[in-house]
Amino acid sequence: MQIEIVSGDPAQIDTEALVVGVVEESEGQPPWTVTVNRLLGGEVAARLKAGDARGKLGEVTVIASRGALRAKRVIAVGLGKAAGLDAERIRRATGRVVRWLDDGRAREATLLLHLGAARRGDPDLVRAVAEAALLASHRTPSFGEKAAAPSAQGSLATVRLLEPGSRAVPPELRRAAATGQAVAESANLARRLAELPGNQLPPRKLAEEAVRVGAGTKLKVAVFDEKWLRERKMGGILGVAQGSAEPPRLIVIEHRPRAARRGTGAHVALVGKGVTFDTGGISLKPREDMDRMKYDMSGAAAVVGTMRAVSLLDLPLRVTGVIPTVENMPSGTAIKPGDVLMSYAGKSIEVGNTDAEGRLILADAISFAGELDPDVIVDIATLTGACRIALGTAACGLVGNDAALVDALRAAGEKSGERAWPLPLFEEYTEDIQSEVADLKNMGGRAGGGALTAAAFLKAFAGDHRWAHLDIAGTAWVEKDRDYLKIGAAGFGVRLLMRYLESLI
Ligand code: BES
Ligand code: MN
Ligand code: ZN
Repeated sequence: MQIEIVSGDPAQIDTEALVVGVVEESEGQPPWTVTVNRLLGGEVAARLKAGDARGKLGEVTVIASRGALRAKRVIAVGLGKAAGLDAERIRRATGRVVRWLDDGRAREATLLLHLGAARRGDPDLVRAVAEAALLASHRTPSFGEKAAAPSAQGSLATVRLLEPGSRAVPPELRRAAATGQAVAESANLARRLAELPGNQLPPRKLAEEAVRVGAGTKLKVAVFDEKWLRERKMGGILGVAQGSAEPPRLIVIEHRPRAARRGTGAHVALVGKGVTFDTGGISLKPREDMDRMKYDMSGAAAVVGTMRAVSLLDLPLRVTGVIPTVENMPSGTAIKPGDVLMSYAGKSIEVGNTDAEGRLILADAISFAGELDPDVIVDIATLTGACRIALGTAACGLVGNDAALVDALRAAGEKSGERAWPLPLFEEYTEDIQSEVADLKNMGGRAGGGALTAAAFLKAFAGDHRWAHLDIAGTAWVEKDRDYLKIGAAGFGVRLLMRYLESLI
């Protein structure tokens, strides 16, 4: 699907569907909705008055234009109440109407939704609409006859944002639309990777996908194999991988623009957990919903997606993606509770639970990232069920060793629609992961705070680097339809990390 932004007269635009927003209150409709209503001889208002349109968020009402406008039909999409109309509601309304149109109802459409309740578009809303439209067009990968079904493809090829008026579209709106397109397509890439079944995307394949993404850009992608990992004694990654017939990989993706910014935040390392399937290992998970654990590489997917967007938009920052990827299996060669592993950093780790595998592979990857001398390290991982219990699906967990970094990530989350909420990293959590026999243990005690004992474990490997951690166990999978995000992988992190990186420029 292509996003474009054009200027012109809503009455004159030749389109299959002209989409306007309507609020619940009959007074206080967005100004261009009022104009379109007038052109239609008051039909929008009449529908609202009759109650067959109510302005409820996401509600779709079709009005034939009968020659009153050049557009074939006008679609009024509900925005909810006029008060508190924000970017998220615009995203949701956009998602609803795009899904409706994309379901065989139109090949192109023209939207006025980025205007919100204003006369002119604002870059943040242009971006929100562009992103929501593309996110709404995502299709979960399917196989066999299912893949050939018409529903496996959308009908909408072009979504056009119309900036009313005759003057040229301002460059900042053009940029916002292009940025939205790059970011949302990259998020959809992350969603596809997370939705691929475990057998279709073992570590080797994830690495191939990263290489393929790199091939279309200026990114440098390096894939390190088991031999390389062994030579470097990356005992955390090797330990988790040893129970699986699928060999591990370490993927490194580099964006090094010629005109990189200097100073703090000029080089950001992004580390993503890439467990392509998490059975729990010998500490086997319960059978219920275990199939979900194919998305335990959502952090890795977010890093691949973010690197793609960073490169397409050529951000003037150095950004390095580091992805440790393994499959966590129980077997005769698997690690066992009580085993001691030697991490790349030289710290010994007692394996209290083989299901706490994410931190074992991230430990090595964070140490490796630290050697690249970045100004900031951000890791992103479906790390703990405990984080999901703490925050539900409304926000990912956010911790770090630098207050300004945590603040910046939180602000980026707010802006992007992917919320990140700060959690504390008290000394007690570090006390909880001490071992009798090794330098650290990969799980906390009975006291609870599992999201934070996990984070305290990672912190031990960040050293003196400014570091933050995003626990996306609750947000990586959409449980309840969110209009522009259907049930399935969320691609969570791509929009958030992009907003963060852009904030550094
Ligand atoms: N991948 C899981 C965390 C997870 C759980 C993500 C549910 C998404 C939904 C992780 O590897 C894990 O199993 N963590 C354990 C840690 C525990 C054994 C210390 C957990 O959260 O139960
Ligand atoms: Mn696990
Ligand atoms: Zn896991």
